[in-house]
Amino acid sequence: MCGIVGYIGTKKACPILIDGLMRLEYRGYDSAGISTLEDNYISNMKNVGRVKNLYDLDGINNLNGTIGIAHTRWATHGKPSKENSHPHMDNSKMFSVVHNGIIENYQELKLFLEKAGYSFLSQTDTETIPNLIHYYYSKDTNNDDKRFLRAVSSACKDLNGSYAIEVICKDYPDLMIVARKDSPLVIGSGINENYIASDIPAILSYTKNFYLLDDNEIVELYKNKINFYDINLSKIDKDLKSIDWDAALSEKNGYEDYMLKEIFEQAHTVRETIGSRLVANTPVNFDDINLSKDYLESINQIYLVACGTAMHAGLAVKPLIEKLCKIPVTVDIASEFRYRNPLIDNKTLCIYISQSGETADTLAALKLAKTCGAKTIAISNVIGSSITREADFTVYTHAGPEIAVASTKAYTSQVTILSLLALYFGEVLGISSKDEIEDIKNELLLLPEKIQTVLENIEDIKEFAKKVYTEKDIFFLGRGVDYTVSLEASLKLKEISYIHSEAYAAGELKHGPIALIENGITVVGIITDHNLVSKSVSNIQEVITRGAKTLIITNQDLENKNYDMVINIPKTNPFISPILSVIPLQLFAYYISKEKGLDVDKPRNLAKSVTVE
Ligand code: F6R
Repeated sequence: MCGIVGYIGTKKACPILIDGLMRLEYRGYDSAGISTLEDNYISNMKNVGRVKNLYDLDGINNLNGTIGIAHTRWATHGKPSKENSHPHMDNSKMFSVVHNGIIENYQELKLFLEKAGYSFLSQTDTETIPNLIHYYYSKDTNNDDKRFLRAVSSACKDLNGSYAIEVICKDYPDLMIVARKDSPLVIGSGINENYIASDIPAILSYTKNFYLLDDNEIVELYKNKINFYDINLSKIDKDLKSIDWDAALSEKNGYEDYMLKEIFEQAHTVRETIGSRLVANTPVNFDDINLSKDYLESINQIYLVACGTAMHAGLAVKPLIEKLCKIPVTVDIASEFRYRNPLIDNKTLCIYISQSGETADTLAALKLAKTCGAKTIAISNVIGSSITREADFTVYTHAGPEIAVASTKAYTSQVTILSLLALYFGEVLGISSKDEIEDIKNELLLLPEKIQTVLENIEDIKEFAKKVYTEKDIFFLGRGVDYTVSLEASLKLKEISYIHSEAYAAGELKHGPIALIENGITVVGIITDHNLVSKSVSNIQEVITRGAKTLIITNQDLENKNYDMVINIPKTNPFISPILSVIPLQLFAYYISKEKGLDVDKPRNLAKSVTVE
């Protein structure tokens, strides 16, 4: 998705803006641009392709302005081109604007502005914004220090849809205005300088102190002063928040790719997720949500709602919540949930899972549940992200910044935190076996060590990836939680290797998919639940008989039954085995992508955080 960076201070803005854009490259984009303001003149430079292509532009090194805005664009309205990339300016070149989000009524606004004499150079929705700001600015006869602010506020009131915008005006060389609605924006505060970004990692190396903007807020940013307003320009107060992410966590630290680094961080990140919530022989600690026994006894259903990998994390933990709480759990795709009139009332608990906390569908699904009277819990990795501000309660995964587009450490942290939540509910309700709860708790505490063991034995998976990287289709099979891991493994492979792949519940094989199995095809089997071993083994034998090459991920002592490769992982409680069994499969996808020479961290067409529908 698009990225935004801004700077106002005493230093040259251009290198800071380009550095920030480079740190946002992981979000996915097709073009980039910057505007800086100097001597009452706005320079506007943009280019298609990589951020570094900005350095090919004549004069870029001569931009000395100390105030500037910048953007990476991921095309929505109009193809990737120089004209369509941001910043966009109004006809008189007085205002320059970058925008994330979608202006739904832009056709209407364009017609209105065209009638008022404005013309348009691009096919974007964004170009209406600077012209609309100019329209209100030129109508305002009061030439005081709030004229710029009033024009932006009036324009924002006309915009339907979502936006995070930065605006500079050549008449106001010391002021930048930013605003947001349904699209993330943070302000990093420094001494005699302020930074703006759509994502914290873009400016984390400059400051750890942030203001998090809420919807319909407008901000005046000077180098040494920040004024916050609501949409009607009444002043509001905001707290400065300190974010304890280490800037080094946003670097590759010697790894070839962010994805590999993030896979290898998982022993650490799962330990961080567990944090002080779980200590041996003590009840699981969720002081931050503190749901009473009466409340938990009153609810009759739980929804886990999310998209993509985060939804797979929900699927992995559904069986544990149902086992320990005896409450039916529905895992739903946020984009489906929000439009299908789900049955929700005050006896429903809705849990929303989102690494970024900014996924548009997940956020909308959360808002829907609130209007129906349900209690909501947000599970997010990003402090202060939008879903955390909407939900009744928030639980952070504490996995640190995830930069690679393909999610890895966020998934294992989500499964870990949801498992802890299931244990907490189970302990409060007190209806399941104490021994079972204790076993899962003990096993969770041992996970970081076991993850490390998996990560120290990666040669076989690398070798198997080398054998099959030219395949056209790869199948994943599993039962129970192993099926949920199959779904995640298949998604990972598709995303970064572009190999077509399908995941099936192994028992479904005979109901259709087995027709696809032919000589030489690759099938990956996941077998970790001791109750289901013989069933899964039979299914794998069925595909071997039909000529499939097989890779098996298991923690069971399987007899050699003609498998091509077996990856043994440590035993654990079956309910939490996805946290271990997914890791070799993350690596499988990674090494296949590398063998194919692809850009692992930035797969085609994908964005890290999907802030529009
Ligand atoms: C897959 C992946 C996506 C995200 C999905 C939800 O590797 O990263 O499927 O899991 O877009 O994103 P969040 O968790 O930010 O809501």
